[in-house]
Amino acid sequence: MCGIVGYVGYRDALVVVVDALRRMEYRGYDSAGVAILGESGVLAVERKAGRLANLEAELAESGTDRFVGTTGMGHTRWATHGAPTDRNAHPHRDITEKVAVVHNGIIENFVPLRKELEAAGVELLSDTDTEVAVHLVGLAYAAGPTAGDFVASALAVLRRLEGAFTLVFTHADHPDLIIAARRSTPLVVGVGEGEMFVASDVTAFIEHTREAVELGQDQAVVITANSYSVTDFDGNEVGGKTRPFTIDWDLAAAEKGGHDYFMLKEIEEQPAGVADTLIGHFTQDEAGGRIVLDEQRLADQELREFDKVFVVACGSSYHAGLLAKYAIEHWTRLPVEVELASEFRYRDPVLDRSTLVVAISQSGETADTLEAVRHAKEQKARVLAICNTNGAQIPRESDAVLYTRTGPEIGVASTKAFLAQVTANYLVGLALAQARGTKYPDEVAREFAELEAMPKLVERVLETGPQVRALARQLAHVPTVLFLGRHVGYPVALEGALKLKELAYMHAEGFAAGELKHGPIALIEDGLPVIVVMPSPKGRAVLHSKLLSNIREIQARGARTIVIAEEGDDTVRPFADDLIEIPSAPTLFQPLLSTVPLQIFAAEVAQARGYDVDKPRNLAKSVTVE
Ligand code: F6R
Repeated sequence: MCGIVGYVGYRDALVVVVDALRRMEYRGYDSAGVAILGESGVLAVERKAGRLANLEAELAESGTDRFVGTTGMGHTRWATHGAPTDRNAHPHRDITEKVAVVHNGIIENFVPLRKELEAAGVELLSDTDTEVAVHLVGLAYAAGPTAGDFVASALAVLRRLEGAFTLVFTHADHPDLIIAARRSTPLVVGVGEGEMFVASDVTAFIEHTREAVELGQDQAVVITANSYSVTDFDGNEVGGKTRPFTIDWDLAAAEKGGHDYFMLKEIEEQPAGVADTLIGHFTQDEAGGRIVLDEQRLADQELREFDKVFVVACGSSYHAGLLAKYAIEHWTRLPVEVELASEFRYRDPVLDRSTLVVAISQSGETADTLEAVRHAKEQKARVLAICNTNGAQIPRESDAVLYTRTGPEIGVASTKAFLAQVTANYLVGLALAQARGTKYPDEVAREFAELEAMPKLVERVLETGPQVRALARQLAHVPTVLFLGRHVGYPVALEGALKLKELAYMHAEGFAAGELKHGPIALIEDGLPVIVVMPSPKGRAVLHSKLLSNIREIQARGARTIVIAEEGDDTVRPFADDLIEIPSAPTLFQPLLSTVPLQIFAAEVAQARGYDVDKPRNLAKSVTVE
């Protein structure tokens, strides 16, 4: 939530900052703003409610002469405190208009700080929590022990703040540097030649450098054109505790590549995402081969000693977690509980040293999931993160990490990350089964080989695109769509409904097919579209035949049945008003296929209704508030 960037270098800072905001806009699009330190020692600020395009239009109209400079910063906002208006847009300035700040996160003690400032005669101009920080820095710079020392003033204020924050400060009298800091929200330094960046994520500066440094908890960084120096909030150097890394993807991966929307590109990248997530996780040996789980390697001994598994996650990642339960329980006979991260720590779950907690998060920043991880660790459970973002907070705080290697996901709705998470879950399940001896090595090898075959099958599902899109256009104006599934088809139904809700703002609900007759069947009326995810007829016969009965029940009551079924499943034809065929796959792996038409469907309905597929209203890609 909120994308922030700071730049000190030799280029036109306005261009650098606006380009960075464009690539980070998926993090929030309630407002956008820039502050550029002009050569004349003046801080030029422009900010505008709504999308970045509004800010760009404003700059084009009012002219950019004031914005000539090589130091600057910018912000794209997902509103928490204060409505998404111009006056709440960042950057905020202090009363001297020399200090500016951009912020991601929530300053939890802003109420007493605001009162303190008001008592000191400072007039606050916005409803945000952020504004207190800039006034406090301004006052600390004006008088007292840190007077005249910008960095010391900023550090003194950082020590007083509570909550989660990434902050970037500039001062008109110090155009050669920027100070930034983080607690529980992300901040990376981009290390260029003769230029430095600070940003919420690396997409902000990937065009200019692939060398980056991840900041740790409660660290601050001062950047100049040629240096960066990391300290704690007391100003002590922490050089050894930062984590330099080289970004292993390029600008093209963060661009739309000829598609109208990132999401459409990301749906197509799914075969590669699944394949790349599997790479390096299987090594051949005399017994047939073995799964290698994570970079820090949870020892087999530990995997053997777990007596239960919790999966915690939010949204689509939670749906991926629901799928993990089917695979892990089936392969390992370990009990698996799947819980919404936002509920987990409030109900006192039973955790101990022999509990494995799997935390699934694309961004690695989601506040609810992070807090669940912290709670699990306090209770001495071992935590394995499944994450798509190198070095993000959740993997940093976890005992082990399994990265989904699907590249940056920019579309706000999760697609390729979801499929990669599901794939990673299977790796966890197989690693547990292997360590615990609930599967023989040759069985593990066979399952892995089936998994490796999935990307090709996902490619074939993408071929259903034209059919699915035509169907979506026909249904774009219905008020409600229901989704049904059984077994692994049930989380797929939930995911299909979530995609439609968030992208097309359409009422959509996913149900376990067997639950229908316990209430929801009352919703069925003439012509109501119901999308049904059929299990494989080659899997458990009882699942297939039960779902067939469910389809007949709803069709008899007038529903329009849209059935996703395996090629050659002729039994379903008479009951399907529309049939979307997907290739045959092992039952547990079928979600990697059946989810894809639902993603395409939601994206097309949203487009037909005229909505921005990449940036659904009210949402943000990384949810760093609870
Ligand atoms: C839905 C979606 C969200 C995320 C959720 C968790 O399409 O993208 O529901 O899945 O906000 O985000 P991460 O995985 O980053 O923790």
